[in-house]
Amino acid sequence: MNPLIIDNILPKNSNIIVALDYDNERDVMSFVAKINPSLCKLKVGKELFTACGPKIIEKLIISGYDVFLDLKFHDIPNTVYKACKAAANLGVWMLNVHTSGGIKMMDMAKQAIDEATHKPLLIGVTVLTSMSKQYLQQIGVSCGLDEQVDHLAALAYKCGLDGVVCSALESIRIKEHTSANFLTVTPGIRLDTKNSDDQTRIVTPVEAMKNKVDYMVIGRPITQANNPYETLVEIYSSSLNPVLCQTS
Ligand code: C5P
Repeated sequence: MNPLIIDNILPKNSNIIVALDYDNERDVMSFVAKINPSLCKLKVGKELFTACGPKIIEKLIISGYDVFLDLKFHDIPNTVYKACKAAANLGVWMLNVHTSGGIKMMDMAKQAIDEATHKPLLIGVTVLTSMSKQYLQQIGVSCGLDEQVDHLAALAYKCGLDGVVCSALESIRIKEHTSANFLTVTPGIRLDTKNSDDQTRIVTPVEAMKNKVDYMVIGRPITQANNPYETLVEIYSSSLNPVLCQTS
């Protein structure tokens, strides 16, 4: 299909969040020029934010994008409270904290958002999608991976967060244990599950949709594609196809 036609018919509610894992503004804006806000939201993570600062967020928002500030705050409660306040003031659409920072820390993060004029979605990271059971054991977590994810998701739900970052493999289970409206934001998406890079719990976009995820975070499979625009449109179209995405 002609890309221009696709752009015009798409509503601006894409559930794809492209991870802008770049270290400079030029590369970001050159990528952004190839896509548009109907197709995706954008994620600014530690690398880009550290390299370019808040001005890159302002540029992306002015360009019409919803921005997810993925700084995964994890610190003492008062510091996270202040960091969340500062992030909300940037006008971002979504931000996140590590659920392993504990209840008090998440409560303070929630308080910061409740007090802000502009209220971004507040999401908690459960277990990173790069972690396996073995990695968890190395850091002293002896329960199973699923158990740890469920435990942290339940804490985030109790603290009133809007959802969690988790693997798409965990989305249905988390919603069953919390609420269907509790958002699942899922990295570890791969078009071809043979190429996982450094992710371990990976899922294709169609599988992710079958697992009822709310947002798919996709970085390298789009940003490093030969034609990022076509890849993005392909994923968008497949994720909208009700037949492909039906739960079996
Ligand atoms: O390139 P790739 O698709 O693996 O990018 C995934 C993005 O999602 C990265 O920016 C990474 O920092 C982020 N992320 C993740 N796992 C989490 C939370 C965020 O991979 N649990």
